Amino acid sequence: MVQEKANAILEALNSATATNQEELEQFRIQYISKRSVIGALMGEMRNIPNEEKKAFGVTINNLKQTAQTKFKALIDGLENNNAESKAAIDLTLPPLEDAPGSTHPITAIRQQITQIFERLGFNLSEGPEIEDDWHNFTALNFPPNHPAREMQDTFFIQQDKEPEKAIDELALRTHTSSVQVRVMEDSEPPIRTLSIGRVFRNEAISARAHCIFHQVEGLYVDKNVSFLDLKQTVYHFVKELFGKDTKIRFRPSYFPFTEPSAEIDISCNICKGKGCNICKHTGWVEIAGSGMVDPNVLKNCGIDPEAYTGFAFGMGLERITMLKYQVNDLRLFTENDVRFLKQFKTL
Ligand code: PHE
Repeated sequence: MVQEKANAILEALNSATATNQEELEQFRIQYISKRSVIGALMGEMRNIPNEEKKAFGVTINNLKQTAQTKFKALIDGLENNNAESKAAIDLTLPPLEDAPGSTHPITAIRQQITQIFERLGFNLSEGPEIEDDWHNFTALNFPPNHPAREMQDTFFIQQDKEPEKAIDELALRTHTSSVQVRVMEDSEPPIRTLSIGRVFRNEAISARAHCIFHQVEGLYVDKNVSFLDLKQTVYHFVKELFGKDTKIRFRPSYFPFTEPSAEIDISCNICKGKGCNICKHTGWVEIAGSGMVDPNVLKNCGIDPEAYTGFAFGMGLERITMLKYQVNDLRLFTENDVRFLKQFKTL
């Protein structure tokens, strides 16, 4: 009889729940307090035959312990619940603004440039950002003492000092011309290729310069390629990207890997040629270097300079993007300020 009662209490104890303080208090009164059902059951001790008293005592003690353990568990459960409900969603709050990302301006310009040159039959080529001396300098006709090889321009990479493991001098590429060398080494003319990628130069970061930036480089090698082809291609590109009214001029220049070489200026897109800070009041801004591929470079890459000629041009993507979108500080491109980025559309 008492054993059945004890079993019933045990069962009820185990299945008890408490979802709030009141239910917890109910549990305490029912199973822990002096007036608890366990206390009442203990009161029946005197009706128990002497020889069964000991066993009955053990049952009561077990019940008491189970009640204590259960009580602690209910308290813990309630505390966790409270923490969760505090963090619960407040349905009265206004909804969060729907905020889809936008295309980064550098990416947008990169896509536009790629499309213009793809329509002219250029394919895309890629190369490593860590380059050896041959592809970044030597094959491109840089004399051994050329200042661009020095530490202030180039980020060299720590070399393995053990002679048996000696590797070519490695550096972060300073221009994407290194990709042109790789393409010329690996393929036969006609070659029409465009390489876009990150380049690295040890320069102080300012509104106009950064130590990491992007270049686009184009190369065309075939029979009878002339400076006229270079000019025509550049004219087409500039007018497609900046509009038909943009003026273009070529200024004689020098690069080790092109001969003759020219720098390309366009009429300032910001003041429309009237003169402003960006064009330093000249009405012109430089956008690219270019020229006819030096015969030595063709030879270095396994192409016969008697049979083939080529032109190349290279420009900074940041500069082009600044002009196109009238951005006056190059650092904005890498600061990831949402107020800047969300002004550009998603492509
Ligand atoms: N590689 C040159 C630079 O980084 C640009 C260039 C490319 C010039 C191709 C001429 C021909 O400045």
